[in-house]
Amino acid sequence: MAEPVLKISGVAKSYGANQVLKDINLEVGAQEIVGLLGPNGCGKSTLLNLSSGFARADAGSIIFGGHDITAWGVERIAQAGLVRTFQLPSMPHRMTVAEVLRAADSRGVQFKTMFAPDRSSMQEVDALLEGLSLSHVRNLPAGSLSGGQKKLLSIALALRTNPKLICLDEPTAGVHPNLRHSMVQLLRRVSERGIALLIVEHDMHFIRELCSRCVVLDRGEVIANCVPASLTSNERVVEAYLGSARDKGAIA
Ligand SMILES: Nc1ncnc2c1ncn2[C@@H]1O[C@H](COP(=O)(O)OP(=O)(O)O)[C@@H](O)[C@H]1O
Ligand SMILES: [Mg+2]
Repeated sequence: MAEPVLKISGVAKSYGANQVLKDINLEVGAQEIVGLLGPNGCGKSTLLNLSSGFARADAGSIIFGGHDITAWGVERIAQAGLVRTFQLPSMPHRMTVAEVLRAADSRGVQFKTMFAPDRSSMQEVDALLEGLSLSHVRNLPAGSLSGGQKKLLSIALALRTNPKLICLDEPTAGVHPNLRHSMVQLLRRVSERGIALLIVEHDMHFIRELCSRCVVLDRGEVIANCVPASLTSNERVVEAYLGSARDKGAIA
């Protein structure tokens, strides 16, 4: 692989006596789509938090775009081109969807006041909304959207920051099947634009459709790093993760 856009080496994180991540090594190549899987509570969201500056690793290093970002804060990391979305995104109630999108700037997590939005950004916002099948909610308060629409909007917000890598935390959880299809198409287009994706997701169909590689965590460790098609024949993965997912009907 060419120089990866993200390289996580020997990362560890504890909360009190709870050692969440032990010795994590993970790479994401430029333009790659990597799935991050594992049972609930295994540390997937924590790893996204460490990578995006929402929490600080106890040990190890995180290199992004050639910079050591291990100790950087959220805004600096977003400016460098790494942004994340959340499992349960919250949106402002007083701004419309279009206003929220227009106000998102390259600081990634900030909204700037926008007395005079320029025409190019309005056109970009309209194109984004159209691509997300969200044009009909353009003028509604962002906070009034459904959970699934908020997730799509949070991806659009991430795109407005001109990222090199987007980390997505369970993008399809709670999302209506119609929007799920829009989400797959959107993420394909995002990837075609040269943006790498690291996706935490339980929906194996979604993973198989999108990801070229999967990293599976269990009890704070990487237990597999393989193509999606190899997951079902990996005994450790089946035992730690897919067995319960299969019981719940999440995979065939
Ligand atoms: N801010 C925090 N403070 C204390 N414990 C936390 C915090 N964030 C996560 N944890 C703990 O870390 C473990 C992994 O959580 P998380 O990364 O959310 O798992 P996952 O996303 O894989 O379901 C859990 O035991 C959780 O309680
Ligand atoms: Mg999580």
